[in-house]
Amino acid sequence: MQGKRILLGISGGIAAYKIVTLIRLLIKSGAEVKCILTPASCDFISPLTVATLSKNPVGIEFWDKSDGTWSNHVEYGLWADVFLIAPLTANTLHKLAHGGCNNLLLATYLSMKCPVIVAPAMDLDMYIHPTTKRNLEIIAGDGVLVIPAESGELASGLIGQGRMAEPETLFESLEAFFENSSELVGKRILITAGPTYEALDPVRFIGNHSSGKMGFALAENILRKGAEVVLISGPTKLDLKHNNLTLVKVQSAENMLHAVQEHWSNSDAGIFSAAVADYRPLNVAEQKIKKSEENLTIELIKNPDILGWAGSMKSEKQILVGFALETTNGKAYAEDKLTRKNLDFIVLNSLEDHGAGFGFDTNKISILDNHNNFTSFELMSKANVAKDIVNYLKKYLK
Ligand code: C5P
Repeated sequence: MQGKRILLGISGGIAAYKIVTLIRLLIKSGAEVKCILTPASCDFISPLTVATLSKNPVGIEFWDKSDGTWSNHVEYGLWADVFLIAPLTANTLHKLAHGGCNNLLLATYLSMKCPVIVAPAMDLDMYIHPTTKRNLEIIAGDGVLVIPAESGELASGLIGQGRMAEPETLFESLEAFFENSSELVGKRILITAGPTYEALDPVRFIGNHSSGKMGFALAENILRKGAEVVLISGPTKLDLKHNNLTLVKVQSAENMLHAVQEHWSNSDAGIFSAAVADYRPLNVAEQKIKKSEENLTIELIKNPDILGWAGSMKSEKQILVGFALETTNGKAYAEDKLTRKNLDFIVLNSLEDHGAGFGFDTNKISILDNHNNFTSFELMSKANVAKDIVNYLKKYLK
């Protein structure tokens, strides 16, 4: 982020207080920061705090009533490499979507030469209101990148989607924005992600807690580097859209195997992060299983080893990466898997590390490669873990 010029627009929502953390992260990373506040946001965050931390005067009004100096919105537009509006309130969103221009932030938006990113923040009912959705679609259609609000506890006490993305997430989005590159153009990468659901009957299944976040973070990172990605995902709440992405949604391990079989031979590399069920019910009942006996025994049979299949079919040029999630003896099992499945390297995550593994936004990994190098990484966000894995992969992809 060294030397990058970040213009922050702050509108009047309670999440404005979190921008302090974002400014500190940006300054620490070597970025230059200027801030424009809407008059309403000054009720939530002090302009003095923002000016002190960003090391620059803040813009609020078109002109300073004390000395008559004019804040030049056109100059802000020329100065910035990126304009991030966070938090974006429903009111400012409405004005962005419809050309409103009654404060400095809005005039600057209309004068912008650089890309604009927004992070909406509002109460859950406001966030899902059709008007808000429509306005977000309008600005997205105008080329604005929207960082969706997150789910969780809201200032109102209600729980739902509407929380502004955390400052760390905003920071990572800005980093990702500047990181866009073409270093993987022409490559085709296959990724498996998420859990598999193994049907017991028409309404029940055996599954696991995998959220798919790791695989989706890998796909996002690789897409930003210009590669084509085939993402084969078991059932998750996640979604991803990109011109270079083929997203194949599957349910069971067998479905996943068929999708992998279709795409593996024309892939340069495969990253298998899916938590595939090892077993599936031998018989899938045609009708819903009735509650009758005290005990119910379900016979399970082994699922195909999808990664093992890809390893057995691997050509000289193809690179194959597996994951291992173990509760004990992680390294020894990983070594065994690396050779048995013919992998180039394996990513280990241990459930013993707090904050790592299923459902978390963070992960702590080690990488063991086929030259017997063993590297451990710090606990960090899955987006940053993805970055480290992709950097490792890049060394193998010639
Ligand atoms: O052998 P184990 O299941 O622990 O190996 C984990 C690795 O193998 C992961 O990369 C996972 O995606 C992959 N795998 C697979 N098909 C299976 C089981 C695991 O692709 N049936």
